[in-house]
Amino acid sequence: MGLLDGKKAMIFGIANEKSIAWAIAQAFRREGAELAVTYANDTVAKRVLPLAEAVGAQLVLPCDVRSDEDLKKVFGEVEKAWGGLDVLVHSVAFANKEELKGSFLNTTREGFSLAMDISAYSLVAMVKEAYPLMKGRDASVLALTYYGGQKVFPNYNVMGVAKAALEMSVRYLAESVGCDGIRVNAISAGPLKTLASAGVGGFNQIAGYVEQKAPLRRNITQDEVAGSALYLASSLASGVTGEIHFVDSGYNIIGL
Ligand SMILES: NC(=O)c1ccc[n+]([C@@H]2O[C@H](COP(=O)([O-])OP(=O)(O)OC[C@H]3O[C@@H](n4cnc5c(N)ncnc54)[C@H](O)[C@@H]3O)[C@@H](O)[C@H]2O)c1
Repeated sequence: MGLLDGKKAMIFGIANEKSIAWAIAQAFRREGAELAVTYANDTVAKRVLPLAEAVGAQLVLPCDVRSDEDLKKVFGEVEKAWGGLDVLVHSVAFANKEELKGSFLNTTREGFSLAMDISAYSLVAMVKEAYPLMKGRDASVLALTYYGGQKVFPNYNVMGVAKAALEMSVRYLAESVGCDGIRVNAISAGPLKTLASAGVGGFNQIAGYVEQKAPLRRNITQDEVAGSALYLASSLASGVTGEIHFVDSGYNIIGL
């Protein structure tokens, strides 16, 4: 028997086989979930479509999370196909590359609002649409965050501010939808080589520090994030909401 047998799960954020969302999709499938997958645009479609097929996704839909219309459409498709939703995964972030290096002072008004829109507000927009489908089903929403939303890291800059907003949105959303049996949590993952992290200046240096300083003296893997995602999505975590759960080899507990 699988941990997610009979559950319907919708996953935002697969771009390629390195994506955290891809590891999550595979783990969910292994544990019996039925999947709906969205992808950002035509550029990533050619990578995402074969992956979606490999996990037998029942729905594979384009969705730019900046667009309320796109979001309405994809949740409409979910309603048509399934009539409800048990698990929603938000594994989406974006900031302009020029603003992920150097001084935070170089952040522009446009860059700030773009990063906030795609990386933080989109969670709120998604939960608004998902709410009627998830209500009363013992459902779980999960977002992905990084420690740079709580502490200052070189080059993470505007994405750190967006992650702080995302983490607080997780808590406010948890309060808003908890009475309808919907849980909202985030995983704060350690550094992983992906398309998104390649845009952050000095990524290798950050990963090197984790190997030296984290209690486990190593970096994590996408599969380890997926393992915790599985727990948070399943009834094993039925009493857990509004939580930021670190999967980072323990790096966040270290002072010096
Ligand atoms: N890689 C890391 O080190 C790390 C660490 C902690 C948290 N995270 C977070 O994990 C999540 C997934 O990132 P990842 O590392 O797997 O990289 P990734 O590049 O594989 O995933 C990011 C996803 O965001 C999508 N996206 C960007 N703009 C979008 C838009 N307008 N509409 C729809 N989708 C859009 C991309 O298409 C991509 O699928 C992000 O929230 C990221 O901040 C990553």
